[in-house]
Amino acid sequence: MQFETAFTMDTSSIKFGPGVTREIGNDMAALGAKRVMVVTDPRLAQLEPVAVVLKALRQEGIDAVLYDQTRVEPTDQSFKAAIDFATDGHFDGYVAVGGGSAIDTAKAANLYATYPADFLTYVNPPIGKGQPVPGRLQPLIAVPTTAGTGSETTGVTIFDLVEMHAKTGIAHRALRPVMGIIDPDNTRTLPKMVAACSALDVLSHALESLTALPFDQRPAPEHPKLRPAYQGANPVSTIWASKAIEMVAANLLRALDDPEDDEARGQMLLAAAFAGIGFGNAGVHLPHGMSYPVSGMVRNYIPPGYSPDHPIVPHGMSVILHAPAVFRWTAPTNPALHLQAAQMMGADTRGATAEDAGEILAGAIVAIMRKTGMPNGLKAIGFSEADVDMLVEGTLPQHRVTKLAPKPASAADLRQLFLASMICW
Ligand SMILES: [Fe+2]
Repeated sequence: MQFETAFTMDTSSIKFGPGVTREIGNDMAALGAKRVMVVTDPRLAQLEPVAVVLKALRQEGIDAVLYDQTRVEPTDQSFKAAIDFATDGHFDGYVAVGGGSAIDTAKAANLYATYPADFLTYVNPPIGKGQPVPGRLQPLIAVPTTAGTGSETTGVTIFDLVEMHAKTGIAHRALRPVMGIIDPDNTRTLPKMVAACSALDVLSHALESLTALPFDQRPAPEHPKLRPAYQGANPVSTIWASKAIEMVAANLLRALDDPEDDEARGQMLLAAAFAGIGFGNAGVHLPHGMSYPVSGMVRNYIPPGYSPDHPIVPHGMSVILHAPAVFRWTAPTNPALHLQAAQMMGADTRGATAEDAGEILAGAIVAIMRKTGMPNGLKAIGFSEADVDMLVEGTLPQHRVTKLAPKPASAADLRQLFLASMICW
């Protein structure tokens, strides 16, 4: 086997500042779009950010058509509904306003309306065929309203394949939005638990991409077009991930405790984009890979502040619950890097030895989980030891991310990691 010798650094253009959403008409017109699909969810459709977007587009003479049927934690069905709408609408531009769900839905709608194909054609293997996107898509501008997914900067879209109870996705750099409009005015109305889960997703993106398998320890692709969007840690992604960790540590509690703290909220939104630039090129690994079956197999759990309509383990929550166990396990692959991550989170690492690295980083993560009101492990959200076999089975197909763990994770390793995640502290 030959090892990879190259990495690429791709990102969306970023526009940051309070009120910049009002400039979206100008931005979209500059891209030449005349008829634009505005993708959001039913709750956000009633709120200020969507109204601002529609007005700004129409002021520039753009025909803006609202699609508000995005599902929080999207499914193949909800994607297909958006794809049908996009196909019938003959759009030459897309805007997504919302969290990762809206942005991911817009990516899928744009892809299949531009290059129609069977739904599994572009979906990640082994669940889908994983064919590369054939060419450029129509321009997509993403307007995030949660400081979480960083989806505005990545070429990845994630959904639940309902009949398999599996989260999977499509990953290709052509899916990346051309621009992310990062406007702190758009995150003021988030319920506290929603904001906390988003923030911990950001933290995990940064920690996972920092510690991911280095790009030059991955097999070389047979053809450049097969080089994955998630390439492993590289010197550039590491800079973005490191900065994101520091920004989250410095601003998370301030932003949660006082939603009027515009500076802290702005920094959290920027941290989400920074982490997105890092992991959009490096990838994430086990906390994300293990989170997908947990979210997919939820039974009755409804977190405080979430709609009582349907049980949900929010993405950021299902990710962070595995982080302490995973980083204890990965620390021996590079203790210095794990200690550095803990230090960036504010942990005292003076006098620490290589053997302490995993425990110190796990401790720093647990401290932040407790302060943000996370449940204490998988048991607290309705799982037990009896579920572990199914959780392992649901994680194994997530190759795109599990293969980026800094050491190979066997079924037995995953089993031990799920057991260790039942109770976090
Ligand atoms: Fe995530």
